Amino acid sequence: MMGHKNSIRSAPSSTTTQLRGETQMNEVSQHPAQAVQQLATAYWASRCLHVAAELGVADVLGDEPQTAEAIAQSLGVQPAALHRILRALANHGVFQHDGERFAHNESSRLLRTGVPGSLRSLTRMMGLKVHWDAYRELDSALRTGRPPIAQVTKDGLFPYLADHPEEAQLFHEAMAEKTNVQVGLVTDAYDFRAFETIGDIGGGLGQLLYAVLEKAPQARGVLFDLPETIARAREGNMPRVSYVGGDFFKDPIPPCDVYMMMTVLHDWSDAESISILKNLQAGAPRGAKLLFIEGVVDPTARNNFILDLDIEMLVMTTGRERTRTEWETMLSRAGFRMTRIIPTPTSSSIIEAELA
Ligand SMILES: C[S@@+](CC[C@H](N)C(=O)[O-])C[C@H]1O[C@@H](n2cnc3c(N)ncnc32)[C@H](O)[C@@H]1O
Repeated sequence: MMGHKNSIRSAPSSTTTQLRGETQMNEVSQHPAQAVQQLATAYWASRCLHVAAELGVADVLGDEPQTAEAIAQSLGVQPAALHRILRALANHGVFQHDGERFAHNESSRLLRTGVPGSLRSLTRMMGLKVHWDAYRELDSALRTGRPPIAQVTKDGLFPYLADHPEEAQLFHEAMAEKTNVQVGLVTDAYDFRAFETIGDIGGGLGQLLYAVLEKAPQARGVLFDLPETIARAREGNMPRVSYVGGDFFKDPIPPCDVYMMMTVLHDWSDAESISILKNLQAGAPRGAKLLFIEGVVDPTARNNFILDLDIEMLVMTTGRERTRTEWETMLSRAGFRMTRIIPTPTSSSIIEAELA
């Protein structure tokens, strides 16, 4: 599903502790008790953020500081509870609090609707009931080997979204937001000027494709996604773009010189990914390239966003984040050869492949 929240993480804490006369730190340089306590309780503040985003607090709070009472009145909610939620968020660096009034800071402004860099939809999407219900079932993955979302909605995430258009809209906006954060750094890392037809397969609302086409004025683009997603994307109505609705497991994918897939195959198991790639291959011209914009797992990494994103995949999809070897093996089973992995300053790399 996503490669969300840009994933540029703050430096680890330098807190240390004296144990048995020597300084002991865990592998991410935290006090051992602090590391456990922070993780055990992380959802307290996380949930506050979802609720604030859902309510639209950041839109109601203007450029002048306001009391929680004033904000609560505009939103029609209980002021005392809002005060405590905003105070907790300010404690984590989202909003500022001078003891009486709340004001915006750079982080809280990102919860405003539709501003450049907005992460409001992404935050709301993380707070959706279907998301929380699925996470509650995390242990079912251990018992059944199936994704916990199957305990909540039997056909999985995408059919659920097809049945819940408002949540689907939020999902696609959330994906567009996470892509917007990363896309400039990704397009800077690859030269698209040689291609005539550039496909974005499972391209959602088209953020990646539109950014690539800006860098490749000679090219035409193909945005391919489920028909209901394409119906939403079509409202963007960008020049040089063909909007094609279909199922990438079975419907023909138009021939392209390069096929991009950003955070798509991590939604699917190896068997499902191979089936998507074989379907794509059937219409691909000789010499076509594939670019997967996804994480590459470094199993020894610490404080690495991709290892958290892998849990999102475990809970919400049949997919996974993959190591370099897992990418290579899966691509080779699908008839492709991985040619290189290009790192980007984001948590995503560009994994390039061609027909073997
Ligand atoms: C995690 S989103 C990624 C969207 C976009 N590539 C991005 O990174 O912002 C996965 C996309 O795959 C699409 N998708 C899911 N199942 C599909 C299918 N069977 N055929 C075509 N697209 C599908 C979804 O509609 C969604 O847009």
